[in-house]
Amino acid sequence: MNRTSLRRLAMAVSLTALLGGCGQPEFTDVEKRTIALMSLSALAPLPPDPTNRFADDPGAAALGATLFFDTGMSRDGNVACGTCHKIDRQFQDDLPRGIGVAETNRRTMPLAGVARDPFFFWDGRRDSLWSQALVPLENPLEHAGTRTSYAHYIKRRFGERYERIFRPLPDLTGLPANAGPFGAPSERAAWAAMTEKQRDGVDLVFADIGKAMAAFERSLVHMPTRFDRFADALARGTAPAGDAALSEEEEAGLRLFIGKASCSTCHTGPRFTDNHFHNTGVPPVVGLPVDRGRIAVVDEVRADPFNCLGKFRDGDEEACGELRFMQKSSPELIRAYKTPSLRGVAGRAPYMHAGQFATLEQVVDHYAKAAASIEGETEIHPLQLSDRERAALVAFLKTLSD
Ligand code: HEC
Ligand code: HEC
Repeated sequence: MNRTSLRRLAMAVSLTALLGGCGQPEFTDVEKRTIALMSLSALAPLPPDPTNRFADDPGAAALGATLFFDTGMSRDGNVACGTCHKIDRQFQDDLPRGIGVAETNRRTMPLAGVARDPFFFWDGRRDSLWSQALVPLENPLEHAGTRTSYAHYIKRRFGERYERIFRPLPDLTGLPANAGPFGAPSERAAWAAMTEKQRDGVDLVFADIGKAMAAFERSLVHMPTRFDRFADALARGTAPAGDAALSEEEEAGLRLFIGKASCSTCHTGPRFTDNHFHNTGVPPVVGLPVDRGRIAVVDEVRADPFNCLGKFRDGDEEACGELRFMQKSSPELIRAYKTPSLRGVAGRAPYMHAGQFATLEQVVDHYAKAAASIEGETEIHPLQLSDRERAALVAFLKTLSD
């Protein structure tokens, strides 16, 4: 390199330093547009849920909040939704696998912004927030209750409130204390012995419990973080100042996230999720039952009597596009899991659907290596990432928490 080109290089370097503020090159216009779309300010208002006509009813939301934290809503009187979805812990529990009446096989999911999703659970086996809530109530590892026990409990504890919000309660006299389609054999037999009208009445109360809980969960929103303040300043064309300014390392991480490391192909938009299911080669946990992800539950969500096409939906069938047009049998669904939002992620280790990784460093290492999936094919391609680049990605992820 001769003298002149050296001088030119030095000038170019100091010019970029001037423009970027701290030795980083400026973001390109394409990068700036991508970043602007990742800000919480780009999030559209929460759309209505036509399948739940109580979704935005304040009385239903208040009852839902009460039920969410009520341990009376479980077989042993010790478990509430809030046992695993802890209010001061981003509505998750910091454990590799959630523990209710017993230990489950999956990681408890955080709930901010959840009302925006088309499918629920890591594998998306429910298609509405209200039908999701019914699953833990009957899961023997979680609340472990039976359908008639919940109807009796609502009548006993919240009868008046329920009737003010929803409708008159059905006649429950003479119905077994514990009967339901997923209980012990005797409880299933008791359920089968009830008349269809009795079962329908209990099912309706059960669906309403889910609708009240969903109304409450709709209020759980993401809060703006340092990243959002940075993105908004960048979009306005003002220099990010104070805590809105990202460090050189954090900016480098952001650049990798939307560039070379391709994280934003799946973790996209203001919630950092595309709401789809992907096989990312996350290894199974030794000792847990076989978990095939999305492919294993396609039939379950279609057969669920509480799904969008079932008789407990409010409004009309037009709202059921997601269920009707979902992918049903593609090999890509093998060991595919829902892309989680990354907002707040640094504050809720461990990671992945069964808590496979203890730290964000391990997560980044997993993406860099892109190991083969035990079944099906991973969508991740190996990345050449230096130690500095790995640290930068982790530093960026931390700007998504406050
Ligand atoms: C024993 C702990 C535990 C209890 C109790 C529990 N959950 Fe969960 N929750 C989990 C786990 C674990 C998952 C993920 C399970 C899976 O994917 O199979 C989950 C998933 C969810 C999801 C899906 C989130 C998403 O992004 O798809 C919602 C919503 C939810 N729970 C709400 C509730 C409600 C409402 C209740 C009470 C009726 C409840 N949970 C009770 C542990 C629990
Ligand atoms: C092909 C889609 C895809 C790409 C690309 C991708 N992710 Fe993910 N990400 C997922 C899915 C799906 C999961 C959940 C996987 C599971 O639990 O088995 C996940 C989980 C995570 C988690 C754990 C979140 C939690 O709450 O447990 C982090 C952190 C994460 N990804 C960061 C990244 C980073 C950083 C990159 C880029 C290096 C990246 N992801 C690229 C789809 C993707």
